[in-house]
Parts: sequence; structure tokens; C-alpha cells
Amino acid sequence: MSFLTISLLLGLGAVAVQAQSPLYGQWLDRRDNLCFWSYLRGFQPMYVRNCCKLDQPVTFCADYSQCLPGVASSSSTAKPTSTASSTSKPATSVPATSTSAPSPTCSASLTSRATGKLSHVGINIAGFDFGCNSDGSCTASGAWPPLLKYYGHDGEGQMQHFVNDDGFNTFRLPVGWQFLTNDAMSGTINQTNLAKYDDLVQACLATGASCIVDVHNYARFNGQIIGQGGPSNDVFAQLWTGLATKYASESKVIFGVMNEPHDVPDINLWAQSVQAAVTAIRKAGATTQLILLPGNNWTSAQTFVSNGSGAALMKVVNPDGSTTGLIFDVHKYLDSDNSGTNSECVTNNIEEAWAPLANWLRCNGRQAFNTETGGGNTASCIQYLCQQIAFQAQNSDVFLGYVGWAAGNFDPSEFALLSPIKCSLSLTVRRSTVSGYVLGETPTQSGSTWTDTSLVKSCLAPNSGSQSGPTS
Ligand SMILES: *[C@@H]1O[C@H](CO)[C@@H](O)[C@H](O)[C@H]1NC(C)=O
Ligand SMILES: *[C@@H]1O[C@H](CO)[C@@H](O)[C@H](O)[C@H]1NC(C)=O
Ligand SMILES: *[C@@H]1O[C@H](CO)[C@@H](O)[C@H](O)[C@H]1NC(C)=O
Repeated sequence: MSFLTISLLLGLGAVAVQAQSPLYGQWLDRRDNLCFWSYLRGFQPMYVRNCCKLDQPVTFCADYSQCLPGVASSSSTAKPTSTASSTSKPATSVPATSTSAPSPTCSASLTSRATGKLSHVGINIAGFDFGCNSDGSCTASGAWPPLLKYYGHDGEGQMQHFVNDDGFNTFRLPVGWQFLTNDAMSGTINQTNLAKYDDLVQACLATGASCIVDVHNYARFNGQIIGQGGPSNDVFAQLWTGLATKYASESKVIFGVMNEPHDVPDINLWAQSVQAAVTAIRKAGATTQLILLPGNNWTSAQTFVSNGSGAALMKVVNPDGSTTGLIFDVHKYLDSDNSGTNSECVTNNIEEAWAPLANWLRCNGRQAFNTETGGGNTASCIQYLCQQIAFQAQNSDVFLGYVGWAAGNFDPSEFALLSPIKCSLSLTVRRSTVSGYVLGETPTQSGSTWTDTSLVKSCLAPNSGSQSGPTS
């Protein structure tokens, strides 16, 4: 099937179509509650508005005329709406005709039960993943622990600041598989290396936050895909048995099965690898903790459903057959090429990614966690990321929250020159390769005062109030 269809619910509550609303040819303010928009993905994305009442099964408009009052929404009850303030999109961004859409598979009630407050909000504390490339080749010696005792940045102090001053309650702690096994392609963990990583985990747990153990290997080990030519699922499961055994009694540890799988040829085989990890984690005694299930395409929130990750990962279950605690892991950046490498942001991702995903999750009774997002310390990123966060909070029934990328051993560009240079020449050189990192969220310390980057201060920090801000 070349087209997948997702219906989406925008806004909360149940306001119906006003009889005289000039709906035709105009995009509705996403804060109002008039319609579903359906989002069709094909060779190029396109948007088709769908004007169904919230309590009716989703149907699709063949063209905009069906959105006119008296057709699809004829029986709606009149109630004043805020459509006067709607933002209109250029008509050119909307195809004039829609492709015939398959029947939606979701008939569940789509009413949001969001609280408006995200349960998990955090920052990535990077460093143990350094030396990892996106083909899953990492070196244990490339890892740079973000802890003073290992000549890194003060990740411990950063986390305490983020919790105490900013209101964060989650940290993601990426680590390379090769570091954990000291470069062996095996599932046997090197306890010397794990003890170093555990220093960071314990520093995180000591703040009272939730701590995501993230194996940062892109579904691979040294270029070879797990379960599809690379390490077997058994080897991958053994790695997770070791990690889950270590943290079986830590209720605030969250297991991030794998960072950013991409170009994985068979998504169903990948789901089996994820299943192997989940089974291993549960059987190691970590029976209640959250486990994050990653899809293909760099864990893209935007293509999680359309590229088949959602359907495949829906089949992953706990040993008792339930899906309790199994949360989909999704990433999304806001720059022009969605790479998270540019300082300017161009989108809040709501229409393209978060709204359709929220609807799909609600339809399927599942939740997702946006464990990587971020941008430069620029006005455009502050604008769009704050909007993204507000939307996620409005859909907190299906989104746990977000984790910014990244602090730890990254220096943001605006503070690069202020960073103290510590220790040996080799560390100085290594530092210089990561200072000036455009997405750096590392705060700077002066005495006992920490100063956040502008993006952290304005949007990412829960205390910024971004969750209750506008979405457009
Ligand atoms: C564990 O890793 C350390 C390096 O951190 C290494 O010296 C040691 O030999 C490794 N142990 C085993 C059993 O491989
Ligand atoms: C991956 O996601 C991006 C958007 O996030 C999209 O443009 C691209 O087509 C996707 N690739 C695949 C293979 O799905
Ligand atoms: C996902 O995207 C890739 C690359 O475009 C494509 O080959 C594959 O068929 C897609 N899978 C599904 C299930 O849509």
C-alpha cells in the first residue's frame, strides 16, 4: 500500500461547526475543535481537511466542498468558536484533490484526556556515547564520561541544577554498546566499564529524577544490524539482561532499548529484536519499569506510523502478554532538514508529526516519549520548540514528555569560550571538538550559580511555563 492514512484530532473538547463559518479553502486554527484533519503520506506529504464531528466515526472528505457546513458537518450544534483568530495557510500548500483514502482503522473514542502537564521532562546528558557513529561503530576509548571524576563536564552538577532550578525530572544517559562490553561484540558486560557508567546513573537517581539508560547504537554494532546480519537477538538480549539485572530494583530507571535505528531493512525483524530486549529486561526482574521501543528512520516521530514502525512495534509485549510500561520512543528536530544540526528552526512539527501521532496513539491506546528534540539558541527555535512543547502538553494523555538534546559534555556555542579547560592535552583537544556544538544545552557554572542556554531557559525548562504556552 503506497498510502497510509492517519486521522488526527486537533484541539481539545467538543466545539462544533458554526453554521456560517467560512471553512472552505481555509485552514482552521489548530486550537479550535472543529475538525479532524487527515494526513496522507505518499511520495510527497499532503494535507486534506476532514470535517467530521468529534463523536462520529472518521470519514474523509474528497474535497473541500465536503467541509462546508451542511454537508459533512450538517448536524453540528452551533456554538461560538475561536475561528476568527484562525491562521490561514497558503492554498498552494494544499492539494486541490485528495487521493482516495483507505478506511481508517481506528474507531475508538478520540477524546483527549490530557492533563496539560507532561509527566517526564528532561535533558540528555551526553558523553558515554561519544565515539559512536551512526553506523553503530563506537570505541570504548572514545567514550567520555560526563563526570568531573573522569575529567568530563560536571554532569552531576548539571543534573542537580536542572532539577532544582528548572524543574526537570528526567535525564537520558546515552552510552555506547562498545563501552559497556569494552569493544567486544558480545552481550557480556564489562563490570569495570559498567561501574563508570553507573556513576552517572547513580548521580541521576540521587536527584530523584527518572534516568533513561540509552544504548546509543543505531540498531547496529560496528556497521552490522542487530538480528539482520549483525549480532543476534540473543546477544542483544544478553546485553539487556546485564543492564536490567543491574537496575532491576530501581523503579526510576527507564530502559531505552536502542537509539535511532535507521535504514533497517525489515521492520518486523527489528520488532523481534526489540521483543528480545523487552523479554530479557522483564525476565531479569525489572518487571515494572518503563521500556522505550524505537522505530525505524532515526526514531522519526513523523514517519513512525507511515513507515510501518508503529504497526510492527505494537506487537511487542511483556512476558504476560500485556503492553504495560511499553512506550514508543520517538525523536524530532525542528530544523529545515530535520537533522538537528542547524541553529535555526522552521517548524513546530505539530501538523506533520505530533498531531497525527497523537491521534494514532489515542486510537491504539498507547503512549510515546520524545526522547530527543532541540535546536539552536535562536529566536526561531525558541518560538517553534515552545509551541511543540505546548502541543505535547495538551496531549499529555499520549505523550509522556520530551528530553532535550543535549547537555553533559557538549558545550553550546555561546558559552564555548567560557568553558574552563581541564586536565590533559588530549582532553583539551577532545573538548575542542565538541565545544561550539550548535544544539548544546550545557549550562555554565559560576560559583554556585548555573546559567542556562536561552533555549533551555525559554522553552525546555518546565519552569519556563512553555507547557501552557501557545501552539501557534
Ligand atoms: C574491562 O575493561 C577494562 C577497561 O576498562 C579492561 O582493562 C579489562 O580487561 C576488561 N575486563 C574484561 C574481563 O574484559
Ligand atoms: C524519514 O523521516 C523524514 C521526516 O522526518 C522523511 O522526510 C523521510 O522521508 C523519512 N524516510 C523514510 C525512509 O521514511
Ligand atoms: C519504509 O521506508 C523505506 C524507504 O523509503 C521503504 O523501503 C519501506 O518499504 C517503508 N516501509 C513501510 C512499511 O512503509
